[in-house]
Amino acid sequence: MHISEKKIRIIIIGGSGMIGGAIVHYFNKCCLANIEVLSPNSKMLSLKSVDDMRQYFQRWRPDYIINSAIAAIDSDPELAYTVNYLGCINLARVALSLQIPYIHISSAAVLPDGNDLDENSRLELDAKLTNYAKSKLMSEMTLEHLHEQEGLDYTAIRLAIVYGKHDYKIQGIHRLLYSIADQAMGFLFTGKDVRHSYTNAKKLPCFIHHTLQNREEFNGEVYHFVDPEPVRMAELILTIKDYLGVAKPIKLFVPLAAARMGLGGINLLLKILVRLGIEAKMPAELLFLDQFYQTQTLSSAKLQASSYHDPKPEETIISKLPEMIEYYIARWEHLNLISDFNRDDLNKKGQVFDFHKKPAELLQDIHSKRIYPFDDFENL
Ligand SMILES: NC(=O)c1ccc[n+]([C@@H]2O[C@H](COP(=O)([O-])OP(=O)(O)OC[C@H]3O[C@@H](n4cnc5c(N)ncnc54)[C@H](OP(=O)(O)O)[C@@H]3O)[C@@H](O)[C@H]2O)c1
Repeated sequence: MHISEKKIRIIIIGGSGMIGGAIVHYFNKCCLANIEVLSPNSKMLSLKSVDDMRQYFQRWRPDYIINSAIAAIDSDPELAYTVNYLGCINLARVALSLQIPYIHISSAAVLPDGNDLDENSRLELDAKLTNYAKSKLMSEMTLEHLHEQEGLDYTAIRLAIVYGKHDYKIQGIHRLLYSIADQAMGFLFTGKDVRHSYTNAKKLPCFIHHTLQNREEFNGEVYHFVDPEPVRMAELILTIKDYLGVAKPIKLFVPLAAARMGLGGINLLLKILVRLGIEAKMPAELLFLDQFYQTQTLSSAKLQASSYHDPKPEETIISKLPEMIEYYIARWEHLNLISDFNRDDLNKKGQVFDFHKKPAELLQDIHSKRIYPFDDFENL
């Protein structure tokens, strides 16, 4: 996909989502005028409908397909199977038929718990897995099969816990941030040394672009796209708390057994509410409570050894926190989801955070007048 006369068409499925949105934005803004990006929403092209797919791809014959679509994380078996698995594989079959590369966004949900897991690690396929994990695992396995048996040109990119802006559904780590800002988390629902890997949503599109430009290297491969250093969950929670200047959570680690008992209580309450005719369901994140207590870190060795170079290796979830917090607090205040945050206070905390962690950037921001932390004394 270097400069060429021919216009290149990329179709991105799931472009209204958090990850897909970042990919669409990157390819629309980036680089070369000869790239055309199409991103049909699920009304225009539903992965549930083979007819939709046939019609769409007959009309818009792409040079690349990127699949970032996913049904809701707590979907029932039918939706998870149809959208996440069948949809993914039908797209791969389109790619096979058009003889074009296919980029599949996968997830750390296909991995067991553990430290420094490499790309060869995978869970055993088992009926007891969540519908989400099962569908992602089966997708990876069938893609590999299609590569070996029919020559599918594909790359699967596994993401860990994703951080970044524009998570309008407030999921994953942004839900954690929300629950601290909303003061809904009283104690630390994690273990002292539990660590996880994180994926920077903004960096992913650049890596995808690189894989499209270097098919020989990336064809038939699985990659972990994660920051090199895992982060302790307790450190992340307490840094967010400090930054927000809130009283909770108190630094007391709730053991998993106690957290599970609490979850059991919520389950019972939900059942009673449903019997009373009140619609209620378990927040999706609580379905993954165990993960707050299990370390899962993904090795980035294969990524580091590849021809891709991280343009901003210094950027991590901790260094991006001030920017993310300011963005989400402003957004949630506008939506009346939270209140009582003093914006000046937050700005000041952001500066103190930068002073502590990245003083050179703070100084540059001040000198370039991006921020003006001084008072005016003109009236003296
Ligand atoms: N976010 C994370 O923390 C995380 C972590 C690891 C891996 N991942 C992976 O990243 C990918 C994207 O996740 P995300 O967080 O961006 O999801 P998301 O924000 O929930 O977005 C899901 C996208 O899928 C589309 N979609 C849903 N049902 C569809 C259907 N039947 N047909 C076509 N499109 C459909 C939605 O389109 P409409 O809005 O038009 O319905 C939306 O654009 C997934 O493969 C996920 O497994 C995400």
